[in-house]
Amino acid sequence: MRKAVLGIVVLLVVTLIVAFYPASVDKPALNGSGPLAVYIDPQYAAPATHSPLDWWQTHHMDVVNRGDLQQTDCLYCHDPEISCNNCHGYVGVDPIVIPTLPITKISSND
Ligand code: HEC
Ligand code: HEC
Repeated sequence: MRKAVLGIVVLLVVTLIVAFYPASVDKPALNGSGPLAVYIDPQYAAPATHSPLDWWQTHHMDVVNRGDLQQTDCLYCHDPEISCNNCHGYVGVDPIVIPTLPITKISSND
């Protein structure tokens, strides 16, 4: 009897582990796979600042923090959700937010 109960408990534990085992997610990679993949709209060509790309990947923060380039200028080509923040969230850097411009009423002569 005790063996049967033990058997059921072991089976239950194994089933729960299998059911709730965390699925592995791929690292953020350019045109990679999974929810963290980094995408840039293919209509844009990479600017000269991005060459070589592996230098840019590890130095873009210095260029922006130094003020050589404005963060808002990156957003002409990059959608922050799919091409900045999936990586920033992974490495623990603050998310890039799109600055909201104050809405000004344009006067019209109607
Ligand atoms: C003219 C369009 C354009 C602008 C402006 C631009 N980028 Fe990019 N960026 C790209 C493209 C295209 C790629 C992909 C490069 C490739 O495929 O070789 C890229 C790639 C990157 C990557 C590498 C992503 C990865 O996972 O490998 C980072 C980081 C990046 N850009 C940051 C920035 C930052 C920061 C700025 C602003 C200072 C910026 N970009 C401005 C087009 C742009
Ligand atoms: C492939 C990964 C990756 C992508 C994509 C990426 N970043 Fe980063 N970014 C990093 C890492 C890693 C750091 C932090 C480096 C450090 O702390 O030394 C960083 C830091 C920064 C910083 C400095 C933040 C701080 O608190 O000092 C800025 C600004 C920045 N990134 C802008 C951007 C913008 C804009 C984009 C999208 C156009 C982008 N990054 C896309 C990896 C990425």
